[in-house]
Amino acid sequence: MRIDVFTLVPHAFAWLTEQRPLAAVLGTELDLRLVGYRDTSPLRSGQVDDQPYGGGAGMVLRVDVVAAALEAVYGGATERRVVALAPAGRPLDQALVEELAGEERLTLLSARFEGFDERIVEHLATDAVSIGPYVLSGGELPAMVLLDAIARRLPGALTEGSGEHESFSDELEGGLEYPHYTRPADFRGWTVPDVLLSGDHARIEAWRREMVTHL
Ligand SMILES: C[S@@+](CC[C@H](N)C(=O)[O-])C[C@H]1O[C@@H](n2cnc3c(N)ncnc32)[C@H](O)[C@@H]1O
Repeated sequence: MRIDVFTLVPHAFAWLTEQRPLAAVLGTELDLRLVGYRDTSPLRSGQVDDQPYGGGAGMVLRVDVVAAALEAVYGGATERRVVALAPAGRPLDQALVEELAGEERLTLLSARFEGFDERIVEHLATDAVSIGPYVLSGGELPAMVLLDAIARRLPGALTEGSGEHESFSDELEGGLEYPHYTRPADFRGWTVPDVLLSGDHARIEAWRREMVTHL
């Protein structure tokens, strides 16, 4: 899979690219490119934003700047999903993660300050995605959330078997995963459920199924 992230802060992604599962698939299952809007801006001194028409506080990411960045990377053709990260977008859930992880190529657009000129969302993006009903200062964290969630779904990202029975998976019928415990079996009188210490795999399996909850 190829993912291109357009951002004002490409270096913000350095930490994420060193962490598993992303690090495990980088260069094999995942090809990640970080593009800085300032590097391709057609405006003087790498200007990328401007004051909002109609007045008001904050700066708005310019449509010509984003168009130039896309043009510089793809030329005329953008046969791919272009996702604008925006609080007003489609709420991100596991179904949307699976859908996007199934794409061969994906582009993520992030903004800062007051956000995108609406024409970017309308004409340059194919989708708008929100990571939740709250406002962050920029699209970099939302892009990283999406990158991490997608990377987990790529072959080789996780240790065999560890991604199959997770919350929201088909195996758990979209439910929330059962609780996990490890040693010590008794800590301050907080004990581990007996069934998990029983060695009876059928009972353990049944208990785990029973503990799956649904939102
Ligand atoms: C300060 S926000 C802009 C908020 C915008 N003026 C509004 O009220 O909806 C700057 C940028 O951060 C990103 N962002 C902030 N919160 C987000 C969220 N919940 N989901 C996705 N992107 C978000 C978007 O790229 C957004 O354009």
